[in-house]
Amino acid sequence: MKKLEDYVISIPDFPKPGIIFRDITGILEDADGLKLAIDSLQKELEGLDFDVIAGTESRGFIFGMPLAYNLHKPFVPIRKKGKLPREVVRQSYDLEYGSATIEMHKDALKPGQKVVLVDDLIATGGTIEAAAKLVEQLGGEVVKMLFVMELAGLKGRERLSRYDISSAIVYE
Ligand code: PRP
Ligand code: ADE
Repeated sequence: MKKLEDYVISIPDFPKPGIIFRDITGILEDADGLKLAIDSLQKELEGLDFDVIAGTESRGFIFGMPLAYNLHKPFVPIRKKGKLPREVVRQSYDLEYGSATIEMHKDALKPGQKVVLVDDLIATGGTIEAAAKLVEQLGGEVVKMLFVMELAGLKGRERLSRYDISSAIVYE
């Protein structure tokens, strides 16, 4: 039987020389791979008390939304700047191969709500740290950061040691 990592396609030098791009389309484009990914992430949430799943654009939407649907929780999209139409909070950050700004609607969370952050991958941790800051700016509490993949060499977990982090696949 195939393991989740068998569905990931690794592409050297994309989008920049020196980066090994861990491509999730091999997971998504196979019904068994997709089911394995969502089931594996969902297992990590068993027994956890939380109110909301938030995902970061764009790959965090792909994995966060099915979890929210399956667990009957709301899904909050954290989007790249300029996409959300109402009042937002905003954070800029650096990631493995660039920099970006993300936003969240100001009324997306109620103070005290417990939030699970979902993304496909943690590399430097810049993206998910910025997402956590948005949640915290709105008075929410990040109770879990959940990823399909972790690039351990980039030390995102160390940068974010104050959070509970789970990854289905860890690349050294
Ligand atoms: C990728 C990935 C994570 C982030 C991880 O997103 O989906 O969000 O980089 O890198 P970091 O831990 O160093 O911050 P990207 O910004 O490329 O956007 P995309 O999902 O829209 O492709
Ligand atoms: N996001 C940041 N680094 C990445 C990588 N190496 N592969 C896929 N997505 C990424």
